[in-house]
Amino acid sequence: MIGRLNHLAIAVPDLAAATALYRDTLGATVSEPLELPDHGVTTVFVELENSKIELLHPLGEGSTVAKYLDRTPDGGIHHICFEVENLQGTLDSLGESGVQLIDKSPREGLSGMIGFIHPRSTGGVLIELVDQ
Ligand code: CO
Repeated sequence: MIGRLNHLAIAVPDLAAATALYRDTLGATVSEPLELPDHGVTTVFVELENSKIELLHPLGEGSTVAKYLDRTPDGGIHHICFEVENLQGTLDSLGESGVQLIDKSPREGLSGMIGFIHPRSTGGVLIELVDQ
């Protein structure tokens, strides 16, 4: 059902330091910081040959990334995102299988229409599905 790994999202307490790590130390191509108030994050995209990483830093009040960093102050892997061919159909079929969904219908994400699966149903890993 799931396809390619679309991205890995990492919550970072210090966006400049994380950007420097991926760009200067690890030699990856990184984007400029992108402020996305609707999503409560400032993001830097790290381009990889076979996928990408999203560095997520909280923006504004009530950011879910801020809550994550409250629990995990050093930062860490926030979620992983897989591509699926029919997102609504995939969410419907997961729901019918008893998987706990955060999104029962697709919504606008950073990389297109997305839906999240609750970590309670996935061994503690927040999984995002993106429509391809
Ligand atoms: Co994501």
